[in-house]
Amino acid sequence: MRSVRGLALAFASAVLVLSAAPLIAQQKPPSKPAPQAAALTAQPKLGLGRPALPEEIRAWDIDVRPDGQGLPPGKGTVKQGDEIFQMQCASCHGEFGQGNGRWPVLAGGQGSLKGDRPEKTLGSFWPDLSTAFDYIRRAMPYGAAQSLSADETYALTAYLLYLNDIVKDEEFELSDRNFTSVKLPNAGAFYDDDRETTEKAFWGKEACMKNCRPEAKITGRAAVLDVTPDSKSAPKVD
Ligand code: HEC
Repeated sequence: MRSVRGLALAFASAVLVLSAAPLIAQQKPPSKPAPQAAALTAQPKLGLGRPALPEEIRAWDIDVRPDGQGLPPGKGTVKQGDEIFQMQCASCHGEFGQGNGRWPVLAGGQGSLKGDRPEKTLGSFWPDLSTAFDYIRRAMPYGAAQSLSADETYALTAYLLYLNDIVKDEEFELSDRNFTSVKLPNAGAFYDDDRETTEKAFWGKEACMKNCRPEAKITGRAAVLDVTPDSKSAPKVD
């Protein structure tokens, strides 16, 4: 299954079949700032707040990116991760990441994406290991977020790789040095949103009505149905 990063392609194509109207209305840039914005900037300073301290910014700035940017120094093995996982994670996610009750499943699911009940785990779905590291570091264990050290987070991420059969060796050690060398199985199924070029033909004034699938029927057009309010008929928003 191919997946567009961050965009609901399926929804977009459903709209296309229904209306065949241009998907994205060209919005004119406002010639002058909206009245509210102008009023805000004209107000005198309220004397609230202060510049953030470097320590405060550092505490917020914990994102880790797919190219490894933002990784803290540290390391941890599958074995160490196993121990921490059983103490701090297994009560919800199960000893092997199978998920207790209705808590999220963290392992398995390979090959399930095309089925009725896709299981979206690190091994079956996620494209980047950095997302797992970032997520665990930022949000887990649920209820005690950001209580894990960098080493513990590396160890837990390594254990999840092991549970998903991406690494096979219990002695495997994940660190900031080898992090980006780990590739996830489904990474190749993700691609950057390319609709700007691949669907360019649809976005003109004239709807492309060539090579339509025989079962596609145009039942109405957004312009005719008047579902998009123009500036004259739109309700006023204060
Ligand atoms: C009290 C229950 C609980 C505990 C303990 C817990 N988690 Fe979670 N975990 C959750 C819930 C709930 C979510 C889903 C949160 C959401 O979707 O907003 C989640 C989501 C996750 C996810 C993302 C899953 C996905 O596919 O979206 C990962 C990875 C994860 N947890 C790892 C851990 C690790 C590692 C630990 C131990 C340090 C841990 N969790 C401890 C409840 C828990």
